[in-house]
Amino acid sequence: MQFDRLWRGATLATLSPRLPGVGLIERGALGVTDGRIVFAGSANELPAGAHAREEVDLGGRLVTPGLIDCHTHIVFGGERSAEFEMRLAGADYQSIARAGGGILSTVRATRAATEQTLFTTAAQRLRVLMGEGVTTVEIKSGYGLEAQQELRMLRVARALGRDLPLGVVTTLLAAHAVPPEMERAAYLRSIREDMIPRAAAEGLADAVDGFCEGIAFSAAELREVFTTAHHHGLPVKLHADQLSDGGGASLAAEFRAVSADHLEWTNEAGVAAMAQAGTVAVLLPGAFHCLRERQRPPLQALRRHGVRIALATDCNPGTSPLLSLLTAMNLGAIQFGLTVEETLAAVTREAAYALGRQHDIGTLEPGKSADLAIWNATRAAELVYWIGRNPLYARIWRGH
Ligand code: NIG
Ligand code: FE
Repeated sequence: MQFDRLWRGATLATLSPRLPGVGLIERGALGVTDGRIVFAGSANELPAGAHAREEVDLGGRLVTPGLIDCHTHIVFGGERSAEFEMRLAGADYQSIARAGGGILSTVRATRAATEQTLFTTAAQRLRVLMGEGVTTVEIKSGYGLEAQQELRMLRVARALGRDLPLGVVTTLLAAHAVPPEMERAAYLRSIREDMIPRAAAEGLADAVDGFCEGIAFSAAELREVFTTAHHHGLPVKLHADQLSDGGGASLAAEFRAVSADHLEWTNEAGVAAMAQAGTVAVLLPGAFHCLRERQRPPLQALRRHGVRIALATDCNPGTSPLLSLLTAMNLGAIQFGLTVEETLAAVTREAAYALGRQHDIGTLEPGKSADLAIWNATRAAELVYWIGRNPLYARIWRGH
């Protein structure tokens, strides 16, 4: 067997569903050809005469699938530290939003920014995530709130995926807020009749998302948006039950959403519906932390019903200015109670499901893209328990 590259002396956390826990293989080897994993297993099981153009001994280092940040709003203009100070002084997120701040202040800054600035600032942020082993990221629009502007955000996201060594999955989040210059029903109509059809026709969006919340859109409004998304062949995702129980989880399940995200206030019936529909729960401890939330997502119910659990940064300038998926992992374990095994799966295998990319990424198995993170660590727990230590040794994307 001839590989392009072969790593030996690896402690593999394969995340293979056929193995328990993180799918650990000690004294492992991993062989790659044409950017795909060809062999991932015990070095003893390497076929006789296996060799590679390039061989590296990792001296026991831990190798995981490249990390996947499956929920970000990383393309945006401006920043919101003044709003952060208002919240420190006692103001709350909803009242700031109702007063025209919050999402709408980032909409103003994003609209005013050039496409080049949006690209450059997002690229700088993405490089920080990549420095911690992230190889795939999801990027949402949602700060344009107008057809040209929403499509522009998605174009920037696509360009980032072309120019950086990183997989980018894009999501149209036009249903994030009602823009100040438009009436609600007219805006919803423009999402359904203009933005979704154009994003689909131009291949700019891989999915459609919405914000189901008292300060944003109702389940009934989003049902129409989702119907249109399906009509154009786009899967859906949902910001669900973050600040109140708005029936978001059930709505997501009704449309077989690939994921429902946040979920702090989701009730048991919503969890059961998600399990039935195969909808992944994406938990976002950065927003929970920054908004000083108290209500934790229903982890026991998610486990009991067998819902897949992913974790993401939710990187955005308002509720989660978080540029560290490793920190999100620590917060997920400490604040939400995930185990180390669940935490690592949540940023690899389960995050791949949350993007509908489970056939291509998320585990170290033959046939998958050779996206790897190699760590100065030997135990998976080391990735979760530190805060602010970056143990990345090497990051490999598509075999390089
Ligand atoms: O995921 N919940 C809505 N959207 C973002 C926040 C966006 C913002 O405040 O700019 C979130 O938390
Ligand atoms: Fe979000």
